[in-house]
Amino acid sequence: MTGTDNEQARKIAEGLAYQPGFGNEHSSEAVPGALPQGRNSPQRAPLGLYAEQLSGTAFTEPRSANRRSWLYRVRPSAAHPPFSRVDNGGLRGAPFTETVPDPNRLRWNPLPEPPEGTDFLTGLWTLGGNGDATQRTGMAIHLYAANSSMTDRVFSDADGELLIVPERGGLLLRTEFGLLRAEPGHVALIPRGVRFRVELLTESIGGQSPTTARGYVCENYGRPFVLPDLGPIGANGLANARDFLAPVAAYEDVEGPVQVVNKFCGNLWAATYDHSPLDVVAWHGNHVPYVYDLRRFNVIGTISYDHPDPSIFTVLTSPSDTPGLAGVDFVVFAPRWLVGENTFRPPYFHRNVMSEYMGLIEGAYDAKAEGFVPGGGSLHNMMSAHGPDRETFDRASAAELKPQKIDDGLAFMFETRWPVTLTGQAAGAGHLQTGYDDVWQGLERHYRR
Ligand SMILES: [Fe+2]
Repeated sequence: MTGTDNEQARKIAEGLAYQPGFGNEHSSEAVPGALPQGRNSPQRAPLGLYAEQLSGTAFTEPRSANRRSWLYRVRPSAAHPPFSRVDNGGLRGAPFTETVPDPNRLRWNPLPEPPEGTDFLTGLWTLGGNGDATQRTGMAIHLYAANSSMTDRVFSDADGELLIVPERGGLLLRTEFGLLRAEPGHVALIPRGVRFRVELLTESIGGQSPTTARGYVCENYGRPFVLPDLGPIGANGLANARDFLAPVAAYEDVEGPVQVVNKFCGNLWAATYDHSPLDVVAWHGNHVPYVYDLRRFNVIGTISYDHPDPSIFTVLTSPSDTPGLAGVDFVVFAPRWLVGENTFRPPYFHRNVMSEYMGLIEGAYDAKAEGFVPGGGSLHNMMSAHGPDRETFDRASAAELKPQKIDDGLAFMFETRWPVTLTGQAAGAGHLQTGYDDVWQGLERHYRR
């Protein structure tokens, strides 16, 4: 049997070792001598292991963009029975055709509590997205709510990489490459095609069921996330490469039925293996999962006047073929000082060719006085007018502009080049707020001449 209870998972998560660096050629072996030296595919791989390459980019993509890893495993991935379609649950994939694109500003409360026994995979719920998974373009926005660890099953996504943003409750991610711990305030990335299992680190209090783990997932169908170029910022800043942590090799040698669920072109397919596929004893390469602590983000902003465009807060970007135009950017609004003089300091009123989905990990966001709560989210689609609510506008317009620390919130944005089309379940959700437009009502006319 695979899977551990929350207590065991927490103990394991607290002792994890990592390999630092973004995009590195990492290497790791859980057993000394398991990693071949001098070649990738020797006639007989060490310790009777099978050698297997996992290609995250085409063989021939430029070296700077190329992603692949070599895995040395107990059994080759090819040794599996046929996959069959299983129910998609709350998961949907691109293209999104259940609704017509909606120009309205929309905001959701957190997902409702899931039924007892809901694990991460069953707890995934798609809000919407764009592009086409079969064309490897666009992105999807998912949320999750889970109260149970995955047991005897693993998940992998052929459609894209998964950027997991926990909002409540820590996660232990057991991947083919090793183990990662992702707490609220961290993000974890699972590359395309990598098998993983999610165990919960939420506390069990007084024998009661553990609290629900919740969060957000950006599924990126396009080119893998990279760190943004820094231009005149220089050689350092924003998310620093050394703060990204890849796992060290760790494997499970488990015989017995394990369900392997594969998301392929928007649908879930499953096969029952007679062993755990998390059986990689050694590996090397750069197509690897990682975690990053958003509190390590080096926030850069004005020290004179005006609010810089929020692209200055970009953690990761998925480039397109057009320079500077991202399939999706992941942006964080982290604790920072506001010192701008004669400046309206909260984010400005805005209409944007890009589409903005915002979520809140903790605290409050400085452009919204109320209604935008941790675990909830807002969507400001292409060219929809948004900005500070009335209360924030009034307060910020009258505030004394002494240096101010924003330290009570952690918000983020998935900003994407195409409009986001909702799933039917998101458009008709009971937790979709009504009256979001009201936050901009009563913005008084101040014009005089
Ligand atoms: Fe905006």
